Amino acid sequence: MKIVSVVGTRPQLIKAAALQPALRARHDELFIDTGQHWDESMAGAFFAELGLARPDHALGAGGGSHAEQTAAMLRGLEPILLETRPDAVLVYGDTNSTLAGSLAAAKLGIPVAHVEAGLRSFDRRMPEELNRIVSDHLATWLFAPTATAVANLRHEGIEAGVALVGDLMQDLAARVSAEVRDPRLLEGIASRLGVPLAPGEYLFATVHRQENREPAAMRAWASILRGASSMDRPVVLALHPGTRVAMEREGIDLGREVAIVEPQGYRTSLALQLHAAAVLTDSGGVQREAAWLGVPCLVLRSTTEWAEAVASSTGQVVIVGVDHALASDTLARLAPRAAAPRSAAARAAGLELASAGAAAAILAALDEPLAGSR
Ligand code: UD1
Ligand code: UDP
Repeated sequence: MKIVSVVGTRPQLIKAAALQPALRARHDELFIDTGQHWDESMAGAFFAELGLARPDHALGAGGGSHAEQTAAMLRGLEPILLETRPDAVLVYGDTNSTLAGSLAAAKLGIPVAHVEAGLRSFDRRMPEELNRIVSDHLATWLFAPTATAVANLRHEGIEAGVALVGDLMQDLAARVSAEVRDPRLLEGIASRLGVPLAPGEYLFATVHRQENREPAAMRAWASILRGASSMDRPVVLALHPGTRVAMEREGIDLGREVAIVEPQGYRTSLALQLHAAAVLTDSGGVQREAAWLGVPCLVLRSTTEWAEAVASSTGQVVIVGVDHALASDTLARLAPRAAAPRSAAARAAGLELASAGAAAAILAALDEPLAGSR
C-alpha cells in the first residue's frame, strides 16, 4: 500500500522509529512532519538518534493556539493528500498532529490508521482526550495498545477495524534497553549536564501537560520538586520548552537542588529513568517506561489512560496529582534514601524488557481485508 505517515511531536518521532523499519519493508511510506515540535532537542535530534527517514514534507506548523496550529496542519496536509492519494493515512497517539492527520484524510475519503487507539482518561478538559475521541471515530484501522482500550472503543460502539496490538513504545524501549543498563553511562551524562549523578541518588522529572502549565498547578508541582530535592539527592528536570515559558511568565522558583536541563535524547531519557531513585512525571510515555524499567514513578496527574501500565507496575507507579503530602509520603515509601542506591543497582542489573510485538501486529492487521469496517 501507499501509506502517508503523519508525525509532529517528540513522542510521535519515537513511535514512528519503532514502526518505520517494518512499515517500509512492506509498504511504500510517504513521511510527513507537521513541525508541531521544532526545537533541535524536541525533534531534530531524534531523527539522527533513532535513524528516522528524512520527512518527504515538513509543514512547519508548530506554535500558536490549538485552532491556529491545527488549521495550519490541515491546510498543509490537504494538497499533499490530494496529490498523492494514498491508500491510508497513519497517525500516532493523541496530539494536534494526530487530529489534523485524521481529519484531513477522512474528509478526502482516505482510510485512517490510528496507532494507540481507544485510550481514554475520561477527562475532556485534556486536549489529548478530544483528539483521541475524534481520531478513533474517524479511523478505519484502530490499533489498540491495551485490552482496556479495546473495551473503551466497544463502549463507544466501535468494533470493526479494532486490533489489540500491544504498546509500540515498548518495542523500541526493549530494542535499546541493553544499551542503557550500564550505570557507568551516568558519568558521561553527569559531566554533560553538570549535575552529580550516582545510581539511586537523584530523581528524574519531566512536566509538560497543559493543566500543569496553569499558575496554581505550577506552584503545586514546583513545591513537590523542591520538597523532594536535597543536596545529596538532586532532581534533574528535563524541561519542555512550553513549560519553561510558562514558568518564566509566573516566576516559578524550583530552588537550588532542582537542576533544570534541556530536553534530552531518547537513550539519555531511558538511562536517567532506569538509574534514578524515582521518576516524577506527567508524561504518558515516561510513566509507561518507568513501569517497564521497574523504577518508582510518581505521576503528576489525577488520571491516567494507561491503567494497565500502572497496574502492571505492582505499586511502583502511583498517581499522585499535585498533592504535596501524597507525593512526599509515596516517595518516602517507594524510594527511601538508604535503600534507593541498592534498588537502582539491582534494577539495572536485572533488567530484561521484551518487545510487545506491536510493530509486527500492526503490519499483520494492515494486511487483513477491511470487510465489515466502517
Ligand atoms: C504536545 C501534545 C501533547 C504531548 C506533547 C509531547 C497537543 C495538544 N499536545 O504538547 O499531547 O504530550 O506534545 O511532548 O498536541 N515549544 C517550543 N519548541 C518546540 C515545541 C514546543 O518552544 O519544539 C513550546 C512553544 O511555546 C509551544 C508550546 O511549547 O507553543 C506548546 O507546544 P505544543 O506542541 O503546542 O504542545 P505540547 O505542550 O508540546
Ligand atoms: N523523552 C526524551 N527526552 C526527554 C524527556 C522525555 O526523549 O527529555 C522521551 C521519553 O523517554 C518518552 C517520550 O519522550 O519516550 C515521551 O514523550 P513526551 O513526554 O514528550 O510526551 P507524552 O508521552 O506525554 O505524549
